[in-house]
Amino acid sequence: MAGYRIRDGILIFLLAAVLAVLPVPLAGAVADAYTAQHVTLTWTDKASVTQTITWKTESSWPVGKIMYAEKADSNVFAAKATVVTATSRPLPADGSGLVVHVAALTGLKPDTTYMYLLGDGDSWSRPYWFTTAPANTAAFRFLVFGDSQSDRYESWGRLVRQAYQANPQAAFLTVVGDLVDVGADYGQWREWFDAAEAVISNVTVMPLTGNHETYTPVLGERTMPVLFTAQFKLPANGPDGLQGLVYSFDYGDAHFVILDSQEREEARFIPDMLARQQAWLDADLAATAKRWKIVLLHKTPYPVKSGRSNESVKAAFVPLFDKHRVDVVISGHDHVYARTYPLTGDKITAGGTIYVTAGRSGAKAYQYVTPNELHEFFHNPFEEPNYLVVEVGQDKLSVKTVSQSGQQIDSWQRMKERTQGKSPHEAYYRASFGDSQINRLPDFFRPTVLQAVWHKDRFITAKANY
Ligand SMILES: [Fe+2]
Ligand SMILES: [Fe+2]
Repeated sequence: MAGYRIRDGILIFLLAAVLAVLPVPLAGAVADAYTAQHVTLTWTDKASVTQTITWKTESSWPVGKIMYAEKADSNVFAAKATVVTATSRPLPADGSGLVVHVAALTGLKPDTTYMYLLGDGDSWSRPYWFTTAPANTAAFRFLVFGDSQSDRYESWGRLVRQAYQANPQAAFLTVVGDLVDVGADYGQWREWFDAAEAVISNVTVMPLTGNHETYTPVLGERTMPVLFTAQFKLPANGPDGLQGLVYSFDYGDAHFVILDSQEREEARFIPDMLARQQAWLDADLAATAKRWKIVLLHKTPYPVKSGRSNESVKAAFVPLFDKHRVDVVISGHDHVYARTYPLTGDKITAGGTIYVTAGRSGAKAYQYVTPNELHEFFHNPFEEPNYLVVEVGQDKLSVKTVSQSGQQIDSWQRMKERTQGKSPHEAYYRASFGDSQINRLPDFFRPTVLQAVWHKDRFITAKANY
């Protein structure tokens, strides 16, 4: 025993000698550095006056706090800053040893950049920043990513970073489900967040689940997507039992609705999950006065992957999209970029809803995919991933679909006329096409330009074959 004591004494002496020669602030910083992982911005309430921040730490940091102030006050940060305590819970992933911290900042000023630090009250992280939404209905841009599920997540990380560099003014981004391949495997989520953190700690992400968020490492065994809901704090305004998975929010003059299409996987836990969403969706869409209505759900009612049909999802939701004149529905699941004509039910109708399948942002691609006669445009991003840039203006919604290397795949617009005494739904629609893609389609699928223009008191529809 005496030998151990002597060795311990020598070690303590050596450590003291090393610390004595270090400059004091560095020694303090090394000892106290607060390490926040996977810092993520979302909204759980109004985008103009709130910001929700989620991050993880090792369990040795069980308490989470945010210290924040307007960026304009950063030179007097300590004097101006407010400190908010997060809700902190263990991450529900066996053996991760991580704590998830969530705090919603409220009472913020619109269109204002804030600086914030994460910590436990004694030691603090490096500074981060976010900017609140303007209070008005000015034009804005958001980014859409198709399924990011992969065996490795480097390609997802590269795409999301390149897309954000090319669109630093984006108000937010979304991923339309199947973020990871096995939703109950935290190792995949860790890679997903490691790849995306540089972006989603700067710009808000409003994601949704896909079928793969319910997958477990046991073949055929499913779970509710608990790791998704633990790591993304989203508005809790959805139907009972589906809060955080089904939700709506506003940005500018647009109303966004996020639905859960995983009936096949989740009905074993919530048998009436589609009926619950129907009642909620009907009331939610009836209540909005926003000019644009945009729905995001993982499994499209108009699939392009061979052998797929999502009939129960289609039967539950499409009549409500028609009733409330939803402008655009954006989906994932097929790992293909496709766009329908404007549709009411299965009928091509000027002013109907346009259904877009967003392609893929991860490594997984499908070889056998087929559009049908309702698809006006189709592209299989087999060679490289892609993303969508959506610009929401007063009278025009523009969508550009681009590949990772920056090639334009598709570009189209949807317009609303602003005329006296007319419903904002009286819209006209005009599409434009990326020529190179048209030539790859068989003759049957060569697109028809459908142009419907509001004239005096009715739509005049013209079709021209290209
Ligand atoms: Fe997928
Ligand atoms: Fe999927």
